[in-house]
Amino acid sequence: MSHPLLAGDHAPGHRPIAARAPAAAQLGGAGARLLAGPAPEAGWERLAGHLARLGPLDVGRRDPAQLRSMVAQSGLLGRGGGQFPTAAKLETVASRSRLRPVVVVNASEGEPASRKDSVLLEHRPHLVLDGAEVAARAVGATEVVVYAHRARRRAFGTVAAALEERRNGPFRFRLVDAPPRYVAGESSAIASFLSGSGALPRSGAPVAVSGAAGRPTLVNNAETVAHLALIARFGPAWWRQAGDDRAPGSTLVTLAGDVASPGTVIELLRPLSVGELLSATGAAAPARPAPRAVLIGGYEGTWVDGPPATTLLLARGAGALGGVQLGCGLVAVLAEGACGVATTARLARWLAGESAGQCGPCRIGLPAIADGLESLATGRSTRSDLRHLWRLTAQVRGRGACGHPSGVAGLVESALGTFAAEVEEHLRGAACMPATRGFPLPVVRRP
Ligand SMILES: Cc1cc2nc3c(=O)[nH]c(=O)nc-3n(C[C@H](O)[C@H](O)[C@H](O)COP(=O)(O)O)c2cc1C
Ligand code: SF4
Repeated sequence: MSHPLLAGDHAPGHRPIAARAPAAAQLGGAGARLLAGPAPEAGWERLAGHLARLGPLDVGRRDPAQLRSMVAQSGLLGRGGGQFPTAAKLETVASRSRLRPVVVVNASEGEPASRKDSVLLEHRPHLVLDGAEVAARAVGATEVVVYAHRARRRAFGTVAAALEERRNGPFRFRLVDAPPRYVAGESSAIASFLSGSGALPRSGAPVAVSGAAGRPTLVNNAETVAHLALIARFGPAWWRQAGDDRAPGSTLVTLAGDVASPGTVIELLRPLSVGELLSATGAAAPARPAPRAVLIGGYEGTWVDGPPATTLLLARGAGALGGVQLGCGLVAVLAEGACGVATTARLARWLAGESAGQCGPCRIGLPAIADGLESLATGRSTRSDLRHLWRLTAQVRGRGACGHPSGVAGLVESALGTFAAEVEEHLRGAACMPATRGFPLPVVRRP
């Protein structure tokens, strides 16, 4: 089955397959790009199969400036959350020629409910590794670090096996186990970890200028890197046929929560509304009530009310999605009847525990925000407590050495707005538990 909404053109050399449900949503299907190729049941695509399907890349023979120009023409925006133009990062790193740069594939996917990077590594590791070679050649690096969590065992093991197949290549690859903490996926934390210190974010020069051991360091998300492999092979004009002008290229999203198959990863060839996506993947059967709300972009994303969410177009790029960021691509559906306030309280408590604890807003502000939300969700807050909660989110926003406090502030403020009716009930004493029905609740670590 290949749903027409998900179908599109395919690259020269792609042999689109007739994928089977439920795998269709997860991998392959006519028109898929990153996820084109053998069905998921076939396991990961070995190097020989990958090259037979897509053809050779011969990165060593490509002109670095020409590769950078192709990426600039593609308009690729980073898929790790910040939507930063990839070409600009490549130029910065390439221009720092005094020290040999390092390329890092950020495959740490610290968002517990996100699966897009893991699915890529588990099924198309050579596409990611090809893209890493393109990035390395484009910036003059010979060393590539694949930064991933060993705890995501299948993805980690598959990359290790795929790297074995490239042992004699011109690039030196290292697979590094990322520390198990949300902020360990932030780029300056990665640079710090690779320099021999803790995986803690730091302020100062961007890592593209001074990163791992002071060397210019290109940190890109695994999906971003996989796109580089396609751009270098098939050209920016073909690549831009997917997506839209603001954010060209296909994009991966992970469906979670009250959906038919939580954890399904979909490749969007053009912006789709949440409603279209849910129907296309069988997640919104006609008898099913509309979702109460949808959390878009990850745990530090934005809650959107159910009815408007279903018509919201999922797209990247400035001004897309009505200003809501697609972030790590998570689309998590909260069932009708579930409490968004209590659910957000759980997310906030988890996020507070995941900080590096080195800046005031995280040490003091985030636990206080989690306390405030828990008190509200259990019917113990007054209107004055609620005002204090709003003040706290405003106080942590934009502070600290990384974007973590702002991310939590954004999540909580969107919850207080989207669940305004529930907030009123809680102020009258109603007490709720976090959502069940499949919503991906994180497990809070005890200190
Ligand atoms: C707290 C925090 C956690 C992050 N975790 C991840 C992560 O798990 N994976 C990722 O690719 N980017 C993560 N990022 C974003 C990275 O700092 C960086 O912007 C990204 O890897 C760059 O890749 P891109 O330009 O391809 O998007 C995180 C950022 C913050 C502030
Ligand atoms: S803002 Fe928070 S997560 Fe970021 S570096 Fe400071 S303590 Fe760590």
